[in-house]
Amino acid sequence: MTSAPLPVVTLDGPAGVGKTTLARRMAESLGIAFLDTGAMFRCLALRLGAGADAWEEERLKDACAAHTFSLEGNGAGTRICCNGVPVRGEIRTEEVGMLAARLGQVPLVRACLCAAQRRLAEQRPLVVEGRDMGTEVFPTARFKFFLDATPEVRALRRLRDLEARGQAADLAVLTEQIRKRDAMDRNRPIAPLRAAQDAVVVDTSALDIEGVLGALLHVISVHGGAALLHGGRGDG
Ligand code: DC
Repeated sequence: MTSAPLPVVTLDGPAGVGKTTLARRMAESLGIAFLDTGAMFRCLALRLGAGADAWEEERLKDACAAHTFSLEGNGAGTRICCNGVPVRGEIRTEEVGMLAARLGQVPLVRACLCAAQRRLAEQRPLVVEGRDMGTEVFPTARFKFFLDATPEVRALRRLRDLEARGQAADLAVLTEQIRKRDAMDRNRPIAPLRAAQDAVVVDTSALDIEGVLGALLHVISVHGGAALLHGGRGDG
């Protein structure tokens, strides 16, 4: 028996490719909420602290169970909450990103967050972004995309972002950090970063955010449009 497609759009891809911005913009265009799964890993990593990936199983299990995730709002205004409190900008540093990537290599943590992600998608249609959305967490998602760009392009985008926020950064350091996190995300034994077989792969290197958003919304519209997402679980 084949399962009916889930009213979910998956956006997977490496660090710095622009998934979060795109997920927010796409959710706004489609009139649904978005789920930034990297924020879940980052939030846990920040709260548990460095070294949590090496904790013994029972301790890690209890720690994961003590953190519940929920969504509030819709479209661009969607916010992810941990234990009822919106997750804040403090999770957005590269240091927390590296801790999150380490934690993401632990099967128990992945299983716990995967279950939480699926629970959230049972409640409403979603744009979900991460590393393994189309492959592991939502293999029956209605629309799947994989976004890519060279490490150099992604590092340059990150530099521009930081500069726009008045923060100084070094392009060579950013490129190295992105390469390191790519290696961890792509080479881990469980749920590694890769495109699902049925995902539309988009190289965003030569496109700006408007260009990528337009291309993705076009694919959705050609294949049935947002109505399929709003209609809940279709029959295929
Ligand atoms: O997307 P991001 O940079 O916020 O994610 C931070 C880290 O969290 C990423 O390097 C690996 C981990 N992660 C993951 O393993 N699986 C996901 N679905 C999302 C993030």
